[in-house]
Amino acid sequence: MAIPKKNQLVGLDIGSHSIKLVEIEDTNKGKFLRNFGMIGLPQEAIVEGAIKEMEIVSSAIKTLLKNLKVKNKNVVTSISGYSVIVKKISIARRGDAELESSIHEEAEQYIPFDIKDVNLDYEILSAPAGPEEKEKGDAGDKADKGLMDVMLVAAKKDIVEDYVSLLQLTGLNPAILDVDAFALQNAFELSAGSVSGCYAIVNVGAEELGINAIKDGISIFTRDSAYGGYQINEAIMSKFDVPYNEAEKIKLGGAKLEGKERGMLQEIFTQVVSGWVNEIKRALDFLSTTYPDQSIEKILISGGSCRIPGFHKYLEQETDIPVEEMNPFVNLQISEKAFDPKYLSYMAPQAAVAVGLALRSIGDK
Ligand SMILES: Nc1ncnc2c1ncn2[C@@H]1O[C@H](COP(=O)(O)OP(=O)(O)OP(=O)(O)O)[C@@H](O)[C@H]1O
Ligand SMILES: [Mg+2]
Repeated sequence: MAIPKKNQLVGLDIGSHSIKLVEIEDTNKGKFLRNFGMIGLPQEAIVEGAIKEMEIVSSAIKTLLKNLKVKNKNVVTSISGYSVIVKKISIARRGDAELESSIHEEAEQYIPFDIKDVNLDYEILSAPAGPEEKEKGDAGDKADKGLMDVMLVAAKKDIVEDYVSLLQLTGLNPAILDVDAFALQNAFELSAGSVSGCYAIVNVGAEELGINAIKDGISIFTRDSAYGGYQINEAIMSKFDVPYNEAEKIKLGGAKLEGKERGMLQEIFTQVVSGWVNEIKRALDFLSTTYPDQSIEKILISGGSCRIPGFHKYLEQETDIPVEEMNPFVNLQISEKAFDPKYLSYMAPQAAVAVGLALRSIGDK
């Protein structure tokens, strides 16, 4: 029998379009998918990562927990977008205590907010090499120059407090607050087995487009922009003169359209998607100037809006980099009795953040 490990958490991806929930049981016999589901949110409940309607979001989470019969109260959720900054910095080598006491000052120049308004977290990436380790590649080079790499994560306090209050209001214990980009990276690493080299993950949700470039397992660049599937809804609402819900239906191919209307819809897709692709290309250009020796070998796409017709192909064509849809379920053990495989594979790219979150456990890092 599979013996579950302790300290498991419920992964809750609270997006502006929908909330996704995943439970994974990590056992001595592998990782089992135990629960997956989602619930939609009304359009104004969360706007660009900020919770506008606490009560509405909280009751949606309660409904989801009830529908999925979730017992565990310990959850991990994530934030993203404008309120969180993930950045790899190189600073003069120093010991742990000195780093702890100087990190705020070092971070200040990289953060566009008042340092008093952010929660700061960091992780040492290249430990300062001892003399015997010099000449050994990257860490050695850095040590020669007297530098060390540190990953900074700065999140605006008001947003962090909002997410914590939301979960507490819902009767849950917020055990970990993660970042979308890291959750996606964890989900991808699980699906790919071991990962080396340089690749990018592009997550296109409803109101956010997140780009994360990863080299040898470490994020070297992240950017979130205010693009997403909602742009298409807005365009449909104005061009077709329909309300939001009808626009969503038209977008997802659930409405009968005449030839002329199909042409209009296609035009909207093309226009919005080319905006996304240009944004991604700008990020890749910036990356190749900053890291001239690195080249992105592959782009993984995720998020509900990565399935907008044409996006995958157009991105591949314009960047000349192979593009793949992320399937975070691929290395999980899944009972076909409990989960419809067709539904799971349809939902896969949209579930990626939640799967990545559910892989976390208390005290894992
Ligand atoms: N099959 C599909 N084809 C095209 N678009 C889709 C499809 N399924 C979902 N979407 C769109 O994807 C978006 C939702 O994706 P996702 O769940 O990743 O966003 P979110 O996490 O709620 O939002 P965000 O992260 O931007 O705050 C919506 O705009 C939805 O209309
Ligand atoms: Mg999202």
